[in-house]
Amino acid sequence: MLELIDVNKSYPAVPENVRILRQVNLQIGSGQSISVMGPSGSGKTTLLNLIGGLDRPTSGKILLNRTNLGSLRDAELARIRNGSIGFVFQLHYLLPQCTVLENVLLPTLAMRKSKIEKHSDKKRAIELLEKTGMKAYCQSHPGQLSGGQRQRVAVVRALINKPDILLADEPTGSLDADTADQLTELLLELNQSQSVALVIATHSKKLANRAQRQFRLDHQTLTEV
Ligand SMILES: Nc1ncnc2c1ncn2[C@@H]1O[C@H](COP(=O)(O)OP(=O)(O)OP(=O)(O)O)[C@@H](O)[C@H]1O
Ligand SMILES: [Mg+2]
Repeated sequence: MLELIDVNKSYPAVPENVRILRQVNLQIGSGQSISVMGPSGSGKTTLLNLIGGLDRPTSGKILLNRTNLGSLRDAELARIRNGSIGFVFQLHYLLPQCTVLENVLLPTLAMRKSKIEKHSDKKRAIELLEKTGMKAYCQSHPGQLSGGQRQRVAVVRALINKPDILLADEPTGSLDADTADQLTELLLELNQSQSVALVIATHSKKLANRAQRQFRLDHQTLTEV
């Protein structure tokens, strides 16, 4: 489903061209879960941004369902990103002025939709909010929620367009231990029930171990452990 072939990434930064990722090769099957651990600054976020088409590799190919993301123009890449890839970050990035339901439906607005499609988006949003224990908060604003609840809403928003792959960059990083565990369970449950592949970058060994496959990123190199 997703394949990275000889991916290299460097930033043309001062004082010199620093290489962040070297010859990264990775295949992720549909519905698989993988975790990536590694020290701060090792390139986990860089890797997720490349997989998610938020950034482009310096060389190498990233294929999503056989489409080479690198060959796409920005508008086309944005369309694929919106439809096939979901992101959850350490911070939730919900819009404070919108309700929970409006936040969740935001990614659906980029596409032209019929009345029927809009109705089924809303139905899916409410189903997912129910699944994550957030249905009662549909009309609440993010400011009225706890950190863990906001992350749940962010997860629902990431899944609303039925992505093939969910990229989670330290999703539990800002949560206390118990809330982090609950979110982890939720991500793994959704990984199964929504058959969405899951890539988690994390500093938590406990979270990393829950994924089917575990990788380590160090010295610019990605290795399966
Ligand atoms: N836009 C950028 N321009 C230049 N250098 C960057 C840029 N983004 C990241 N870097 C550098 O790339 C390296 C990897 O950063 P990255 O954010 O991917 O690490 P990380 O593994 O996610 O770290 P953390 O665990 O702290 O989140 C760092 O040395 C960082 O300074
Ligand atoms: Mg990071």
